[in-house]
Amino acid sequence: MAAPPPLPVTRAANETGAATPDQQGAGGAAARRVVSALLFLAAVALPCLVVYRHRAVALGDVLVPPRLGASRDDDVDLDIDDAKLEEVLRGAAMANDTVILTTLNAAWSEPGSVLDVFLESFRTGESTRELLEHLIIVSLDTAAHARCRQVHRHCFALVAGGVDFSGQKNFMTDGYLKMMWSRINFLGQVLEKGFSFIFTDTDIVWFRNPLPHFYLDGDFQIACDHFTGDPDDLSNAPNGGFAYVRSNSETIEFYRFWYAAREKHPGLHDQDVLNSIKHDSFVAELGVKIKFLSTELFGGLCEPSRNMSRVCTMHANCCIGLSRKISDLNAMLRDWRRFMALPRDEKHSVSWTVPRNCR
Ligand SMILES: *[C@@H]1O[C@H](CO)[C@@H](O)[C@H](O)[C@H]1NC(C)=O
Ligand SMILES: *[C@@H]1O[C@H](CO)[C@@H](O)[C@H](O)[C@H]1NC(C)=O
Repeated sequence: MAAPPPLPVTRAANETGAATPDQQGAGGAAARRVVSALLFLAAVALPCLVVYRHRAVALGDVLVPPRLGASRDDDVDLDIDDAKLEEVLRGAAMANDTVILTTLNAAWSEPGSVLDVFLESFRTGESTRELLEHLIIVSLDTAAHARCRQVHRHCFALVAGGVDFSGQKNFMTDGYLKMMWSRINFLGQVLEKGFSFIFTDTDIVWFRNPLPHFYLDGDFQIACDHFTGDPDDLSNAPNGGFAYVRSNSETIEFYRFWYAAREKHPGLHDQDVLNSIKHDSFVAELGVKIKFLSTELFGGLCEPSRNMSRVCTMHANCCIGLSRKISDLNAMLRDWRRFMALPRDEKHSVSWTVPRNCR
């Protein structure tokens, strides 16, 4: 379901015309002076107005950098090869049509970068190695795709018309937003094909199989930066980097609604829009059962799991800067290895040494 391409919004910079009196009817120097004065006023006042409006955006209820001169172009035409996608999904799915998905760009796929730590965690975790059979790496550029094919079996290239997702995407830049929204669009399409998924950011290390820990009655289950202790509490702070979503008509509609909601919230990313729509009465009417996952099992640098005997995943969230991320992810792997090496009755003595570089 590809959304129609956005209409280019070219805000007319010369609306000064409205302030110009009819020059035909005004003869004489006095009238010309009035016209000049008005034109001068318009020239001075309009830029102020524009500045004022951008400030208003910046100081609104969300901290969004003003998108100077930006048109509404968060939309990216996803050019999905349907047959290819189905083939890859089918090839990686568990018996009940569930897959594990991650999205990857060039910067994160380089040797020694995030992808290596991510894959290594599956090999080091408790019964997580076999989950690699069900992992699909969705690449966002050709370099990431080439790298995937070197190191993994299930790769899918998500081609976004005319957009280059390679390179490190800084938080909240235009390219970052496009990447995030393409992801929501893509995940919705996976659901429409009848596949349930665990979506995981690549900067999450996996130590245990999360499947036995999901709620039986949750359609859409999402990890949190901070967990209130109540999985049904809508005031939990979700983190879109890790989610388990069952494919059914409720979740398909939910993803359509979520993706469409970006138009009402220009400049916001998927997570902020989720925080806004989770309270929407339409979502309640849809009947999609939303559950928030505990940081005890699905932790991160924002709120580390306090129990290494239970933890399934740890996310390098609350961390800005790629090299810091990589070094704290590696530290988490080392902590895990230390934990695994100890006899059962000494395991409690190990705890995380992170956040360290990300602090
Ligand atoms: C798929 O199978 C896994 C493993 O048995 C299970 O935990 C999960 O709930 C199943 N998912 C669905 C959508 O039935
Ligand atoms: C950690 O989890 C294990 C296994 O569930 C449990 O036996 C132990 O009491 C927990 N430790 C703490 C400190 O909560």
